[in-house]
Amino acid sequence: MQAVVYTRYGSPDVLRFTEVQTPTPKANEVLVKVRAVSLNGSDWEALRGKPLYARIMGPLRPRHHILGSDVAGRVAAAGRTTTRFQPGDDVFADILSSMGGFAEYVCVPESALAPMPAGMSYEEAAALPQAGAIALQGIWDKGQVQAGQKVLINGAGGGSGMYAVQLAKLGGAEVTGVDNPEKLEFIRSLGADHVIDYTQTDFTSNGRRYDLILDLAAHRSARAYQRALVAGGRYLYVGGSAATLLQVLLVGPLLGRAEGKKLRLLAVRLGAEGLGPLVGLCQAGTIATVIDRRYRLREVSEALRYLGEGHAKGKLVAILE
Ligand SMILES: NC(=O)c1ccc[n+]([C@@H]2O[C@H](COP(=O)([O-])OP(=O)(O)OC[C@H]3O[C@@H](n4cnc5c(N)ncnc54)[C@H](OP(=O)(O)O)[C@@H]3O)[C@@H](O)[C@H]2O)c1
Repeated sequence: MQAVVYTRYGSPDVLRFTEVQTPTPKANEVLVKVRAVSLNGSDWEALRGKPLYARIMGPLRPRHHILGSDVAGRVAAAGRTTTRFQPGDDVFADILSSMGGFAEYVCVPESALAPMPAGMSYEEAAALPQAGAIALQGIWDKGQVQAGQKVLINGAGGGSGMYAVQLAKLGGAEVTGVDNPEKLEFIRSLGADHVIDYTQTDFTSNGRRYDLILDLAAHRSARAYQRALVAGGRYLYVGGSAATLLQVLLVGPLLGRAEGKKLRLLAVRLGAEGLGPLVGLCQAGTIATVIDRRYRLREVSEALRYLGEGHAKGKLVAILE
């Protein structure tokens, strides 16, 4: 089969589109013929080996040689002990822990798969899992957004941000989206009430306070985030610098305790199965999946470059025949 392979951390130049052996499913796995695979910020980080947490599985060299974690496709073969899926079934999954989606075929543990939602295209189903889980848990489950609250989404113009802005608006919040200037108009089009250009303004020091900050690109100190919360407010770290993550983990629980502020890591439960509410909203047309660009598998390095250079608005998807 054909796949996009890398064996060392670096720029998109280290990726090769090449022939590799088609994997064979283990007893508990299903072989999926990939029809669409979306790109995530986590692919970019795992390609670069930055931030440091992106090297957790391979400190010097990547452990998994094929990136791509959000796949939609058709079951080609089912392992011996699998029971839920048959060849021919349409499925989707987030396989962040094992990756391998930038390929014609990928083996997926049966437990990570869910049936493709009715009426959904492969590309939309591939766009949903990781970004959708982050947004759903960040805004609703852990964020517990309430009508009238002020919510700030840092990194609002990317994949997770695209769903998060819409979910926060749906919850009745007043939403501020932060990203680079190229994405601000897009963030407004998702329904955000206010936008901030992170290249011009530091949202933690402009005097405004929020009930919830969902941080998809955390680069500031935990104390700065604490300052930007109202009493009783929540800050959720999703991704960003490893130094900020350490601060949030180590001093987050103490900071702002007097005012009932909470600073935490959002450890996202990944898996297509948990996406039910968001899938329903997408099927009903209440929440839109915006796909900025579509690529062929052989063009994944170009797609990652576009993502890494800061141009992608919403999701990028590679479509396979
Ligand atoms: N916590 C968990 O359990 C968990 C699970 C899965 C993934 N993640 C993490 O989730 C994060 C977000 O993923 P994603 O797929 O939504 O990424 P994405 O599509 O790349 O979106 C991130 C957005 O943040 C923007 N950004 C970059 N630097 C910024 C800054 N200093 N201030 C404000 N915005 C900035 C990016 O814009 P530019 O184009 O300008 O860079 C981009 O629009 C990743 O770091 C990933 O590792 C966490």
